[in-house]
Amino acid sequence: MRDTFGYQTVSPKQRQEKISHVFASIAPRYDLMNDLMSFGIHRWWKTRLVHKLRASKNALIVDLAGGTGDVGAKIYKSKGTSVIIVDASKEMVEAGKQKLDLPLHWLVATGEQMPFADNSIDVITLSFGLRNMTDTDAVLQEINRCLKPGGQFLCLEFSTPVFWLKPFYDFYSWAIIPRLGAFVAREPAAYQYLIESIRKFPNQLELCDQFTKAGFGDVEYSNYSFGICALHHGKKPQHLKEHQLERQ
Ligand SMILES: C[S@@+](CC[C@H](N)C(=O)[O-])C[C@H]1O[C@@H](n2cnc3c(N)ncnc32)[C@H](O)[C@@H]1O
Repeated sequence: MRDTFGYQTVSPKQRQEKISHVFASIAPRYDLMNDLMSFGIHRWWKTRLVHKLRASKNALIVDLAGGTGDVGAKIYKSKGTSVIIVDASKEMVEAGKQKLDLPLHWLVATGEQMPFADNSIDVITLSFGLRNMTDTDAVLQEINRCLKPGGQFLCLEFSTPVFWLKPFYDFYSWAIIPRLGAFVAREPAAYQYLIESIRKFPNQLELCDQFTKAGFGDVEYSNYSFGICALHHGKKPQHLKEHQLERQ
């Protein structure tokens, strides 16, 4: 079986290794690079995600691919709920733990296989992580498995911008970002991967279809910054299928 890492064709195992390497190498400069590349706008996108999240005080929320904990911290501050940050990279988790002095729970695990019981989580958020996962359909099904019936899934990801923005966006992406990555993070290849992976990722409507195929209902999306980023939303249906009820 073949997979892609940006525009390179690799095996799924090689892809996972390369992605682990990318995040291990950029972890110390990850937050700074995000601010520089997006002029700080990623913070606003993440705030929009938290505004869309509905949770009572005793809800259990998982921020998958939570990295250095930006979204987890925003959720905790705004909702006061228990937040578990799950990420495959121990380097990203360590960078987050050092940065944040909040009672968040941290777990090194992958989205393909989360250590949670069926129907046990109220809300799962995923920001800028799905694109890096090797089997996105398997991850979406795993998220659906872990959510309680009626549970919310919110996914923030780079997407396809409106046509008139594309020439400027392409110029900025190809000419500026890898140079910034080389100068600030000393990892131009990691930021070349970022740009390529965004272009390989499904557009807004294609991602809606993937959500629906994985079993989510009420699927919808909002574009931010003219579609540079999109927030997709889905709900696990209230009525479980027979085999899911048997497992409860
Ligand atoms: C671009 S960062 C996003 C971090 C954070 N959510 C944010 O918005 O700033 C992508 C994160 O996905 C994590 N990741 C990549 N593949 C993963 C997987 N299969 N399962 C869980 N996390 C994964 C990486 O370790 C990295 O921390």
